[in-house]
Amino acid sequence: MGKEKVKQYYIETFGCQMNVHDSEKMAGILKSEGYIETGSAKDADVVIFNTCSIRQKAEQKFFSELGRIKSLKKRRPELQIAVAGCIAQQEGIKIIKRAPHVDFVVGPQNINALRDIITSRSDSVFIDDNPSITEVELPADRKDNVRAWINIMYGCDNFCSYCIVPYTRGREKSRASRSIINEIKDLAGKDYKEVTLLGQNVNSYMSDMDFPGLLKEINKIDGIERIRFITSHPKDLSDELIFAVRDMEKVCEHIHLPLQSGSTKILGLMNRKYTYEDYKKKVGKLKEIMPQITITSDIIAGFPQETDEDHKETVKALNEIEFDGVFAFKFSPRPGTRASNMNGQVPEDIKSDRLYEILEIQNKITERKNKEFKGTLQEILIEGKDEKDTGRFTGRTRTNKIVNIPLKNNVKPADIITVKITRAGRHSLEGDIL
Ligand code: 5AD
Ligand code: SF4
Repeated sequence: MGKEKVKQYYIETFGCQMNVHDSEKMAGILKSEGYIETGSAKDADVVIFNTCSIRQKAEQKFFSELGRIKSLKKRRPELQIAVAGCIAQQEGIKIIKRAPHVDFVVGPQNINALRDIITSRSDSVFIDDNPSITEVELPADRKDNVRAWINIMYGCDNFCSYCIVPYTRGREKSRASRSIINEIKDLAGKDYKEVTLLGQNVNSYMSDMDFPGLLKEINKIDGIERIRFITSHPKDLSDELIFAVRDMEKVCEHIHLPLQSGSTKILGLMNRKYTYEDYKKKVGKLKEIMPQITITSDIIAGFPQETDEDHKETVKALNEIEFDGVFAFKFSPRPGTRASNMNGQVPEDIKSDRLYEILEIQNKITERKNKEFKGTLQEILIEGKDEKDTGRFTGRTRTNKIVNIPLKNNVKPADIITVKITRAGRHSLEGDIL
């Protein structure tokens, strides 16, 4: 052993799957530079916060974590602290002005700059638009050995009036199909069984082929058994895609289709470009063509100018559509977005009441829908040991329901097995191996 200590990194990730995967890429860069991971900031030579600014709560959480690490930097001035992700993009140099213990600020389009940062320490802020992001291939160090996230596109052009993403992740750009397919073939060679294609609006993927075309190519890759994708925008969900999901045996029967509001007036103010009726028709078609499909959604409570009547329309939509699950949030004004300056901001207590009602109604629906699985046979992909209860394995149905099963000698992660569902709760199902 030489005298030089192996350098260690610690990454803390906030926010969505896109960030989770960006963190895997940052880890990949650091590993290729000889760093190893540590589970604690205390032991690290480099600490990276991969931040989220989608709602104010996520932002506050990050700034309090950032404050906490200040004393560590005081004790060890050689510690490098980097802020990455959406807050980095939005705030740039302001982060260093506010928190001088931060060394580097790296936006989501400039992850590749991390290599320069740790080796040469030239600049400290990397937030330029990066039109060549789709050409940069970064070595991801994936946390999971069974399921993998794959970027198929970056950025978003939709400018929903509440959303910060188009400002932090830039214009929509699709990755070349060849490079996506090569990455997935490589994963298949490493025994990965499932891929989730990531984009803010995967339905508008366009390179030398469109999204259904891309699915067709991925569907041919030997070894990959399941294909998922997030997120779909209702305005771009085409019949062709619905049929592609039905006809390609590896594409799973689950779609995350954010509705946001059941009021067509509010959808207009949100710049979503569909009416509630349009949405309902698409869901009707999905269910007609694939009765087994599960549908999940996002809802925003208390958008500006949302009246009690508008809120009731959202409640009605939940009851009509019966989603399998919903992520619901109080509207959070994001600086720079159109909705943050709209008239008719809804008071916080009303937002809370509406959110509470949405969650209460949806929880009952989720539980009821899960109970429908009781007694059925389901194909599940084993992901690994159940995190909370070490006595069980956990896996998912094709429809994305979590199923816990007892540990059995002949079952291991990455197996695809058939189980009989014996119990159903709100968060997960339980099954027995046949
Ligand atoms: N306030 C509340 N929720 C938001 N989302 C995005 N921006 C905001 C905001 N400003 C929600 C949307 C989106 C999900 C990822 O986050 O529902 O679909
Ligand atoms: Fe945000 Fe709308 Fe783009 Fe989704 S589609 S990232 S909600 S702007």
